[in-house]
Amino acid sequence: MRIIHQKPALLNNRVRRKKKMKSTVFSILAAFGLAVGGTAAYAAGGKSHIEDFDFSFEGPFGKFDQFQLQRGLQVYTEVCAACHGLQYVAFRNLGDAGGPAYGPEEVKAYAAQFEVFDPELDDTRAAIPSDKFPKSALEGAPDLSLMAKARAGFHGPAGLGIFQITKGMGGPEYIASILSGYTGKEMEQAGSTLYENTAFPGGWISMPPPMADGQIDYADGHGNDVHHMAQDVSAFLMWAAEPKMMARKQLGFLGVGFLGLLTILLYLSNKQLWAPVKRKET
Ligand code: HEC
Repeated sequence: MRIIHQKPALLNNRVRRKKKMKSTVFSILAAFGLAVGGTAAYAAGGKSHIEDFDFSFEGPFGKFDQFQLQRGLQVYTEVCAACHGLQYVAFRNLGDAGGPAYGPEEVKAYAAQFEVFDPELDDTRAAIPSDKFPKSALEGAPDLSLMAKARAGFHGPAGLGIFQITKGMGGPEYIASILSGYTGKEMEQAGSTLYENTAFPGGWISMPPPMADGQIDYADGHGNDVHHMAQDVSAFLMWAAEPKMMARKQLGFLGVGFLGLLTILLYLSNKQLWAPVKRKET
């Protein structure tokens, strides 16, 4: 009787395990499908079009262009700062090598244009280099400190974000595409105005077109149509989100080089270690 009892139990266990396996595989597939489907829906919903801008910092040897970052800061200051904050970026970083690389006096003068609230004084005062940029002035306008990274892995076939690897497309392309993607159409919805934009998911954004051709005078005489200004400010925002990008790339090369060397050394020492044994065999 016992044996008869045990057999179905064993069988049951096996069946149960199989079922468990099946459901695990199913749930992994379902999760993957959902993830892909979800991002695809996000990408397809607005039929958003992202242009592939060429940035100097793309690719493994890419570097930030100091003058482009300076122009981008000018665009941010004169246009975007009216609504958007950069609350995680400190003024003193504008003097960092590899960034806009302003001199200490220039950074001081730049910071002094902004007012910050000082809890010790219980009053506002002019900002100094160790302060951070202010928060967004307009409710509903997101902070731009990390925007270039927050919107990075957004598209490619089925919304997989593969274009970031294959074409170097990411957050800066998205921001530049938004800024230059207005069609000029507007509509009223629930008391607020929406503007048609070919890059924004959903196709309608509540940010009014922030720039017009020739709006900014660059000291270096660089092109100042919307397309160029959009690219400059997007490069600046990429730097703001990842100021140490160049150091990261250099460290990556060092790491890969070191591992390559280690591979060769290990291969040679492995050969030498086994050489006596192998010689005996032949
Ligand atoms: C008049 C105020 C105003 C100005 C000026 C402005 N923005 Fe915006 N911006 C907004 C608002 C409001 C939103 C939120 C839009 C939405 O979610 O529909 C927004 C959203 C954004 C987004 C986020 C889009 C997303 O995917 O969620 C980016 C990027 C952006 N702005 C960049 C800029 C840049 C760069 C400038 C300067 C060239 C700028 N904005 C100037 C009001 C402004």
